[in-house]
Amino acid sequence: MNVLIPEEAIRERVSEIAAAVNADFHGRTFTVVGILTGSLVFLADLVRRLEHRHQIGLLEASSYRGTATTPGTLVLNTGLLPEVRGRHILLLDDILDTGATLSQVTAHLVELGAASVKTCVLLRKIGRQTVPFEPDYVGFAIPDKFVVGYGLDFNDDYRHLPFIGVLPDDTSV
Ligand code: IMP
Ligand code: MG
Repeated sequence: MNVLIPEEAIRERVSEIAAAVNADFHGRTFTVVGILTGSLVFLADLVRRLEHRHQIGLLEASSYRGTATTPGTLVLNTGLLPEVRGRHILLLDDILDTGATLSQVTAHLVELGAASVKTCVLLRKIGRQTVPFEPDYVGFAIPDKFVVGYGLDFNDDYRHLPFIGVLPDDTSV
């Protein structure tokens, strides 16, 4: 496994993001919403550095790219989400790739009546975005490689790695 971002660098960057969130959300209660499953590790580390009171909610977003459905159709499961109407939301995802997930989830939270939605990703892949969308907080811009670890998976594996790594090309699981 080729380490792209070591554990220590992630820790420092998460602290910097938390400091920015602490400044921006000063005096406001809000809800941190994590997109399952990739945002879990990032969420757990980030919320422990936040100074202001907040709730935590989760939602599931799965994109079906198979032949049976429209490519890129996003299916949202909001069953685990607390009431968002009138709440300020900090939406977290592991990585911004095409931008489809974050833009659609943001639109959905606005439809549900959120007072505001700020978005935060740990990683942003350079040169992959097809949907115009600008996240409010970005941890690291990375090259267009498939990465795993710190919540990110390949076939639901490798999420537990404490660093961000690039799988060797010949990995077959
Ligand atoms: P988007 O909707 O194309 O922006 O894709 C975002 C989702 O794709 C993320 O939540 C990840 O689940 C997944 N994804 C995109 N690139 C990678 C990667 O390099 N490794 C693991 N998952 C990825
Ligand atoms: Mg994901």
